[in-house]
Amino acid sequence: MTYRANPDDGIAWVTGASSGIGRGVALELARRGYVVAASARRAEELQTLASEAVGHPGRIEPTPVDVTDREAMAKAVAEIESRGPIALAFLNAGGSFDDAAGDFGGAGFRKTFELNVFGVVNGLNPLMNAMKTRGKGQIAINGSLAGYGGLPGAGAYAPSKAAIINLAAGAKFSGDRIGVTIQIVNPGFVRTPLTAANTHPMPGIIDCDDACRRICDGFERAGFEIAFPRRLAWSLRAMNHLPYRLYFALMSRGAPKRAN
Ligand SMILES: NC(=O)c1ccc[n+]([C@@H]2O[C@H](COP(=O)([O-])OP(=O)(O)OC[C@H]3O[C@@H](n4cnc5c(N)ncnc54)[C@H](OP(=O)(O)O)[C@@H]3O)[C@@H](O)[C@H]2O)c1
Repeated sequence: MTYRANPDDGIAWVTGASSGIGRGVALELARRGYVVAASARRAEELQTLASEAVGHPGRIEPTPVDVTDREAMAKAVAEIESRGPIALAFLNAGGSFDDAAGDFGGAGFRKTFELNVFGVVNGLNPLMNAMKTRGKGQIAINGSLAGYGGLPGAGAYAPSKAAIINLAAGAKFSGDRIGVTIQIVNPGFVRTPLTAANTHPMPGIIDCDDACRRICDGFERAGFEIAFPRRLAWSLRAMNHLPYRLYFALMSRGAPKRAN
């Protein structure tokens, strides 16, 4: 049977909780009764978040950490576990960094992979080790619909999300053997500080609170993928099954420049 976390089983850990989706999910989990360890680099934002959750059935405990620091992430997991077992983890911290024109694969590209890929791996490893000893746990990783297939103008972001979708699917095999549920969250466009600067069209964009409720509902269902909005997810999925000739023709015509 697939394990589904609940507040009686332990703490929920959310990375990237100082803004956008991570912040909203941390609040929603506190609303659903979890004690939430909320992580990001900006400690003061996490304190504000904790005070916002006062009055909810659960609570938020600020746990600042830089996800790109492998040692600090292992320590963060050990420190949270000293307060109680981590029943649910949402490895959400992520972002996108550009390089100057003519410098493809430069510092921005590396920083994007460091955050979106290694930032997840740095959490996944200590979590799997801790959950393995209990034979149960749930880990959700934030990917993106942008990871489904090559997109025009996506730089490092889409390939980093493709890597993480593949990584989550691979981790599911290991998780299944030790009682740990692995999930991938693939949102389309969500209104957050990350998308606020976008100037290109963002079809199907949804509010952050709506996205966070869908994500938390997905945690309760425990199916492998939590993807939304459905129409965008299904059309991108269908397009990725087309012969490349058709895929490129369709993408370069009507598709968004990026699906974030
Ligand atoms: N918004 C969308 O349309 C959309 C769509 C699909 C997927 N996503 C994914 O959703 C996730 C959250 O995005 P968002 O839109 O909510 O963006 P956001 O508002 O910019 O939030 C990003 C979060 O990541 C944290 N973060 C960044 N670097 C970090 C580091 N080195 N260590 C720890 N935390 C770090 C930030 O906190 P600090 O700066 O305080 O560290 C912040 O809390 C990302 O993985 C993104 O790719 C977003």
